Amino acid sequence: MNKLIVGNWKMNGTMTSARNLAAELVTFQKNKPVQVTVVVCPPYPYLGVVALRLMDSSLRWGAQDCAAHENGAFTGQVSAAMLKDMSCQYVIVGHSERRSQGNETDEHILQKAQKALAAGLTPIICLGENLQEREQGKAVDVVLSQAQQAIPEGKCIIAYEPVWAIGTGKVPTASQIEEIHQALAKKKPVLPLLYGGSVKAGNAAEILKIPHVNGLLVGGASLNAAEFWAIAEAA
Ligand code: 13P
Repeated sequence: MNKLIVGNWKMNGTMTSARNLAAELVTFQKNKPVQVTVVVCPPYPYLGVVALRLMDSSLRWGAQDCAAHENGAFTGQVSAAMLKDMSCQYVIVGHSERRSQGNETDEHILQKAQKALAAGLTPIICLGENLQEREQGKAVDVVLSQAQQAIPEGKCIIAYEPVWAIGTGKVPTASQIEEIHQALAKKKPVLPLLYGGSVKAGNAAEILKIPHVNGLLVGGASLNAAEFWAIAEAA
């Protein structure tokens, strides 16, 4: 399976920095080509400028969320069909920041993933336990329950992102990642599995060696083209 490296830019940058970052990645792909699939997920308003920069490259783009509805009176929301219209191929759904800040449940996430699939996008569905659940020894159960409830039938990608590893610099041990990925691979045998949470150029190769890790979902380190490219090269 071709490794997949996804950059989640979250709510960062300006139009100019988004355009420059996309242009720098295209230059890296030209000068230091990688065989892996590289995807960036900029903030919604910058999808257009990023798409223009990446259009003639092998790099792909996606969004950080989509609506659970098709269209209509949903002020402030963006539909999966609109993302497809912007030539997105992927959309992240169920990120832990959406779950906690947007009160999203597995049921919402399932609906969003279904809308994404119906629009022809590949949903990247995020799962992960919080620190308390980890400390109580419930990590595998929590993640499998989220997988059971939030993942529809179809061509989805799963991203295991332990909440306590996101933006903290704390990375689970290889055996902790392997345990979760093993359980997910057993439950959803055909779906690619990503790991996310404090991935950097310095730890990417090691994480990618863990069985069943098919790629990475990168936050902070995806905002720096050289660092993000080093992660892609590690894959
Ligand atoms: P960091 O890589 O900044 O820890 O963020 C991970 C993440 O949330 C990616 O979706």
